[in-house]
Amino acid sequence: MRPITRRNALILGGVGAVGVAVGGTGLWMTHDASSRTPSQTGTGNEFTEPTELRSSNGTLSVALEAAAGQLTVAGRTVTALGYNGGLPGPTLRVRGGDTLRVSLHNGLTNPSNLHVHGLHVSPENNSDNVFVTVPAGDSFDYRYELPLNHPPGVYWYHPHQHGYVTDQVFGGLYGAIIVEDPTPITVSRERVIVISDITLSSTGTIPAATPMEKMSGREGELVLVNGQLNPSLTARPGERERWRVVNACVSRYLRLRLDGQEVTLLGIDSGRLSSPRSVDEIVLAPGNRADLLVTGHAGTSRLEALPYDRGSSGGMMGGGNAPARGDITLATLTVAGETAATPAAIPGQPAARDLRATTVTARRELVFAMGMGGMGGGMMSPTINGRAFDASRVDETVQFGSVEEWLLTNTSTLDHPLHLHVWPMQVVEQGGTAVETVIWQDVVNVPARSTTRVRIAFDDFSGRTVYHCHILDHEDAGMMGVIEAR
Ligand code: C2O
Ligand code: CU
Ligand code: CU
Repeated sequence: MRPITRRNALILGGVGAVGVAVGGTGLWMTHDASSRTPSQTGTGNEFTEPTELRSSNGTLSVALEAAAGQLTVAGRTVTALGYNGGLPGPTLRVRGGDTLRVSLHNGLTNPSNLHVHGLHVSPENNSDNVFVTVPAGDSFDYRYELPLNHPPGVYWYHPHQHGYVTDQVFGGLYGAIIVEDPTPITVSRERVIVISDITLSSTGTIPAATPMEKMSGREGELVLVNGQLNPSLTARPGERERWRVVNACVSRYLRLRLDGQEVTLLGIDSGRLSSPRSVDEIVLAPGNRADLLVTGHAGTSRLEALPYDRGSSGGMMGGGNAPARGDITLATLTVAGETAATPAAIPGQPAARDLRATTVTARRELVFAMGMGGMGGGMMSPTINGRAFDASRVDETVQFGSVEEWLLTNTSTLDHPLHLHVWPMQVVEQGGTAVETVIWQDVVNVPARSTTRVRIAFDDFSGRTVYHCHILDHEDAGMMGVIEAR
């Protein structure tokens, strides 16, 4: 994100100046300087991070209480939701081979549960089982066993109780999970950057979403970094920082820039790039994460979210996105002082598996549509293959150990980011064009009126879980299916 755009364009094959897709979905680089309009005024607060809880001797045991309370959000005391009184909740740091135990207490007035988004763990029993319901006032003990070779990277946790997910995540229930690198990368410091959006009334409460907002996917008026508005960060020139970025927004795509600094992308979701790559911009769909290195260059830079067009739910119904706003300043980084010593080289990463060389044993198509009916009053309802979610039905049965190719077809006029639990997806084709870079993600964007093709290896874990649109209003409205590997 240094102003050397030509170099970056060449690295990517120089496809063109605007909208160069890097390995397909979820990640683009563009070089257009769109109009800059100042938005949400900063509070100038110093950047803070959620509490960190770290595993030791192969175990991390955490008690999480989900509850409403008086929390500090955007510099105000408001009524919101939090885990252990925080928005975001504590950051959980684990390693491959660890056991993570979470004792969840549901202090809400509605049912809830817990999902560890992106972790490659069993979907059964008291592991990452989204069919578990924890009624209001009850507790549940989760136990997640990470395989020894679990991909390092940025993950997160949030509730997954169908019908309640959007309100609970929008209200403040989310936190980061970091799976540490077996070989650490030398950095001056690590920062966890959980980006979320929220709307607050003048009395400090979260207003209910309207039917129209639910149809498009609600976007909050404020975009927060660790619950703060435009916090300030400082670093010295030459310092290399690790930024662990989570898009915890329920519907908002984040097109991020940090002009004036050197930004290196290590990976998206659980997928590490085969070699780190210098980037100008990254686009994170809801649920995506980025693992970044930021090397300081003297000056003041804004971490910005630029407008992203994810389509609209259609003129006839009067639905649509929140009106496009200018750039949103998420945080301000000031780099000053004595130049730091050049950090050690980044250790090589093992080459990612490439399923393009593997024989596909089954193919299937998922069609994402906004159909009529369902909600009544002529509202559109989101479906996958013409159906709305039913927890008692298995929509797709796959053979454990097989490799499948899925064609994701979006017939609607707005983007749908597909998320599959447990097994990550390799993007092999985007809008009919083959993707050359090996890129693995657990949230893959399917742009409006377009297609995305992915390959999936159903390895390591069998059982029943879900895939869904990560615009959480769509998930709650039924854009989710059940998959069983056996
Ligand atoms: Cu981040 Cu099934 O969810
Ligand atoms: Cu998930
Ligand atoms: Cu959707």
